Amino acid sequence: MSNITVLTSGTSGIGRAIAEKIISEASEGDKLIINYGHNDKAAEEMKESFPENKRSMVDFIKADMSDYDEMLKLAEKIKKKYDHVDWLVLNTGISTYLPFDEYTYELWDKIMRTNVNIPAFLVKELKPMMAENGNILFMGSHAGQAPYSSSIVYGVSKAAVMFMARDLVKVFDEQKVSVNAIAPGFIETRWQDNRSDESRDRINRKIAAHRFGTPEEVAELCYTVLSNDYLNGSIYDVHGGYDYF
Ligand SMILES: NC(=O)c1ccc[n+]([C@@H]2O[C@H](COP(=O)([O-])OP(=O)(O)OC[C@H]3O[C@@H](n4cnc5c(N)ncnc54)[C@H](OP(=O)(O)O)[C@@H]3O)[C@@H](O)[C@H]2O)c1
Repeated sequence: MSNITVLTSGTSGIGRAIAEKIISEASEGDKLIINYGHNDKAAEEMKESFPENKRSMVDFIKADMSDYDEMLKLAEKIKKKYDHVDWLVLNTGISTYLPFDEYTYELWDKIMRTNVNIPAFLVKELKPMMAENGNILFMGSHAGQAPYSSSIVYGVSKAAVMFMARDLVKVFDEQKVSVNAIAPGFIETRWQDNRSDESRDRINRKIAAHRFGTPEEVAELCYTVLSNDYLNGSIYDVHGGYDYF
């Protein structure tokens, strides 16, 4: 049977690397549905970057994953067009650099909604379509395991995401669907663009590998977890050995 993957927030950074890995391994009949929030140009450019014989395997669907109704529309489109989902990758995640004292309730609510509530309800919407031996993969963060992040709401949301991954194992038991999460450390995406050299050096000193990870290194791990049916209910760290120094 052909493999159908749904990937949220897949047009840059880690999401894009996951999409590229899946497409590089895809065979005829496989489909990859890539969600993104705003940037049509990036989606178009990404489609063009795939080898010509693989472009028809990719289906881009725009939907703002901070908005419950947009998520429902995304789910409806998937239900109309496809008859099952094998792999569901919930990669969406946003954060803030504001200090806690400057938080507003609306900001906290938006980050929790985008990182936790909407992924949970997308899983609920697509649950009836999940194929036997399917896999659900959440993008957590090491910031949800240890309180080092300056963004409290982000750490709280990622802790919730990783707990949800483990809790959903029981919910998907009868369908024989596995649920796991990835916990990356510091990864070179546009998230790190504004980081000062001083901050980068300080973090690199704490990482055993003494460098940030690449989106491709995270994508390799995601692909391994998605392809191995015996992996279930676990959180997989990919942080180069963070906090060894
Ligand atoms: N980078 C790190 O160091 C790191 C570490 C640990 C965990 N993570 C997690 O990894 C995931 C990906 O992070 P990244 O660093 O790869 O981010 P990124 O490079 O900023 O990726 C952004 C992607 O998210 C999409 N997006 C943004 N807002 C969206 C929305 N409201 N609805 C739908 N899509 C939206 C973007 O599409 P548009 O531009 O079209 O909106 C784009 O496809 C997140 O869950 C993050 O928490 C990252």
